Amino acid sequence: MSALAAKRHIGALPDLSPILARSVTVLGSTGSIGVSTLSVIAHAREIYGADALPVEALTAGSNVDVLIEQARAIRPKLAVIADETQLARLKDGLAGTGIEAGAGRVAVIDAAARPSDTVMVAIMGAAAIEPALAAIARGVTVALANKECVVAAGGVFRAAIEASGASVLPVDSEHNAVFQVLGGGDASEVERVTLTASGGPFREWTLEQMRVATPKQAVAHPNWSMGAKISVDSASLMNKGLELIEAHFLFAVPPEKLAVLVHPQSIVHCLVTYGDGSTLAHLSAPDMRTPIAYALAWPRRIASPSRQLDLAAAGQLTFQAPDHDRFRCLGLALDSMGKGGLAPTVLNAANEIAVDAYLNERIGFLDIPLVVEETLNAAERANAQAQTLDGVLAADARARSQAGEICARLA
Ligand SMILES: NC(=O)c1ccc[n+]([C@@H]2O[C@H](COP(=O)([O-])OP(=O)(O)OC[C@H]3O[C@@H](n4cnc5c(N)ncnc54)[C@H](OP(=O)(O)O)[C@@H]3O)[C@@H](O)[C@H]2O)c1
Repeated sequence: MSALAAKRHIGALPDLSPILARSVTVLGSTGSIGVSTLSVIAHAREIYGADALPVEALTAGSNVDVLIEQARAIRPKLAVIADETQLARLKDGLAGTGIEAGAGRVAVIDAAARPSDTVMVAIMGAAAIEPALAAIARGVTVALANKECVVAAGGVFRAAIEASGASVLPVDSEHNAVFQVLGGGDASEVERVTLTASGGPFREWTLEQMRVATPKQAVAHPNWSMGAKISVDSASLMNKGLELIEAHFLFAVPPEKLAVLVHPQSIVHCLVTYGDGSTLAHLSAPDMRTPIAYALAWPRRIASPSRQLDLAAAGQLTFQAPDHDRFRCLGLALDSMGKGGLAPTVLNAANEIAVDAYLNERIGFLDIPLVVEETLNAAERANAQAQTLDGVLAADARARSQAGEICARLA
C-alpha cells in the first residue's frame, strides 16, 4: 500500500512528523525483540513514508549474516558485530552500501553513544549493561527491553538516569502495560501492582516431569515467540522474578506492593490497584510489536503490524496464584529483591550461567534453582554492598565463575 493510499485508508492522521523524524539505534537487532523492532520500523515506513524512523545503528552479537541482511534492508549509518572475528565478513557484506562497519564489545558501546533520539536496548543478558549506560549518558529516550541490566545494576542505572535526565521507557510487555496504565505518572497512590505470567510450558507439569524436561520443551512457549534464554526463564518463572525486580526499579514500587498472577492466555498484562477499590488493567494480544511501537512513538501512538486483540475468540480469561513449590526461582528472586545490594546481581549472573548450562544439556531443568540458590548462599556478603559499576561487574564475574563451578559439579 502506498503512503498516500494508507493515509486515505486510515483517515485524517494527526501530525506525527516529529515522532516519525526520530532516529533510532537498535542494540541486539538480530534477536527476537530486535527483529520485531525492525518490523515495526519497516511497517511505519510503509504507512507513513520511507523517511520514517531513520536508523542510526544496528548491533548484533555474532549472527553476521542476519545483520548484513537487516542493514541492507533498513539502511542504518552503522552496523556493528560484537564478535570481532566477523568484521571482514561484515565489511564484505556491506560493500557498496555506504554503511559503516564496526566490531567488538567497545564498538557496540560506541554505537550506543552515537547521536540518535531513541535507543532500543534488546541485547540479551548483563552484556547490555555498558551499552545501555552509554545510551542513558546521552540523556535521550532509551527503550529498555533488556531486564537483566536493571536487575543486576539497578542502583547504577538509577544514578545514571538522574544525572543525564534520560527517559527510560519499558518495553517488557508487563512493564510497558503498567507504564501505560499509570499514564507516565508515578506509582505513589498505588496499593498494588500485579504482573501477569503465562505460567510457561510447564504450568501444569509435575516436578517429576520437569526434572527430565528437555531444552526443546522449555523453549516451546505457549503464547510468545522469544529468544532461548528468556523462554527458559519463562518456563522456570525466573522471568517473572526478574520482572518484579525490574518493576521495583522502574516504578519505585516497594516489594510488598508487587504481586504475580498466573494468567495462561497472556492477554491481561498488568493490574494496577488503587486504595479506592479500582483496579485498572492493560490488555493486548501477546505480540511484542505493540509495546515496541508504543516505546518508539511515546507519548503518541503509531500504526504497528501487531495482531489485534479479539476477546470473543479468546473466550475465557483465567487467573490463578503461582505455585512457589514447583517454581522455586520466583521465591529466590523475591528474596534477592528484599535483600537488595548486590544480591540481584548475583541472582542474575547465576541464572544466566545455569540457563546456558541447561540449554547446552549440561544440567537438568530443576538444577537451575539449585545453582542460583547455592551461588547466592556463597555470595551472602553481597547483600549489604552498595552498587557501583565496578562493584556490579566484579560481583557479576565472581558469581558467574561460582555458578560455573556448581554446574560442572552437577553435570
Ligand atoms: N523476546 C521477547 O519477547 C522479550 C520480551 C520481553 C523482554 N525481553 C528481553 O529483551 C532482551 C532480548 O531478548 P530476546 O528474546 O530478543 O533475545 P535474543 O533473541 O537472544 O537476542 C539477543 C540479541 O542480543 C545480541 N547479543 C547477545 N549477546 C551479545 C553480546 N555479548 N554483545 C552484543 N550483543 C549480544 C544477539 O546477537 P546474535 O543474534 O548475533 O547472537 C541478539 O541480537 C532480553 O533481556 C529479554 O529478557 C524479551
